[in-house]
Amino acid sequence: MEQVMKNFFLFLSKNRSLTKMAKKYGLRFGAGRFVAGETIDQAVQVIKDLNQKGLAVTIDYLGEFVDNAAEANEMADNSIKAIHAIGREGLNSQLSLKMTSIGIDISDELVMNNMRRILEAAKEYNIFVTIDMEDYSRCQKTIEVFKELRKEFDNVGTVLQAYLFRVENDVEDLNAYHPNLRLVKGAYKESPEVAFPEKKDVDENYKKIIKQHLLNGNYTAIASHDEAIIEYTKQLVKEHNIPNNQFEFQMLYGIRPERQLELVKEGYTMRVYVPFGTDWYGYFMRRLAERPANVAFVLKGMVKK
Ligand code: FDA
Repeated sequence: MEQVMKNFFLFLSKNRSLTKMAKKYGLRFGAGRFVAGETIDQAVQVIKDLNQKGLAVTIDYLGEFVDNAAEANEMADNSIKAIHAIGREGLNSQLSLKMTSIGIDISDELVMNNMRRILEAAKEYNIFVTIDMEDYSRCQKTIEVFKELRKEFDNVGTVLQAYLFRVENDVEDLNAYHPNLRLVKGAYKESPEVAFPEKKDVDENYKKIIKQHLLNGNYTAIASHDEAIIEYTKQLVKEHNIPNNQFEFQMLYGIRPERQLELVKEGYTMRVYVPFGTDWYGYFMRRLAERPANVAFVLKGMVKK
């Protein structure tokens, strides 16, 4: 049943008409638990609150499926506005973004121009930018974009997904760039030809790449809500005397907020991924797919209104 629900929400997450409808009718149906608002001002307030509690942030101006260059440029402009707001307000926040939102499906030139504009603006305030990883069909291209930009900028990183068979090779291949990588389990529906279908295999592979990247001496963000993974990381760094400033934990806004604060109290860097913007639909559906229990939460919210 859980697998059926998961597939259902992942299917919905890719539906363009529903994305457009969601955009039009605003942030409702419980999505507010996972999304910090539709405007930068609302997001700034959320970041301030999180920072006050000792949590670092990475902000994401939500967007997927742009249809043309003008839309892609507008998305990049919105990320740049977010960067200026972070800089102006002196917030402890990085930026994350998806390459589809700034034109990776349209042209190489477009995505590279937009990324260069974003990274130049971020450099002014010493803000780090992470390129999110999307579905498998964009994985190779995203890695190539990252490699190209990494030659020009220090403030750029990307994400690798433990569910992919190729991930160990990617960790090794990228080592030459001394990258700051966010490691995740992976959120998209992938074919068993390219990704582990079983959760237990994904979890094992995840541990493997966390160890691999940390022991290569690189900065590692462990982005997971899974207690077993957090414990594994704590043991690993203790065993290998890896200092706390070589890694951080990351979680999504609205998920395990109490645990986020505990990790801060334990002395770890804890970064919260804070999405905002009108294009929240696909993101929200992937969160429901991860944990169908969230559907009950959302339904309760709807009934209460
Ligand atoms: P898993 O899904 O195995 O869950 C372990 C436990 O965590 C659950 O039993 C539950 O207790 C809790 N939990 C997990 N999800 C929950 C939820 N939605 N609600 C409530 N509790 C929940 N993916 C990707 O493909 N590309 C990317 O760029 C990113 N970026 C990214 C950034 C950050 C900061 C995070 C935290 C995650 C991502 N992801 C991602 C998503 C990632 O791939 C993965 O889908 C989710 O983190 C869920 O996997 P977990 O590691 O949390 O474990």
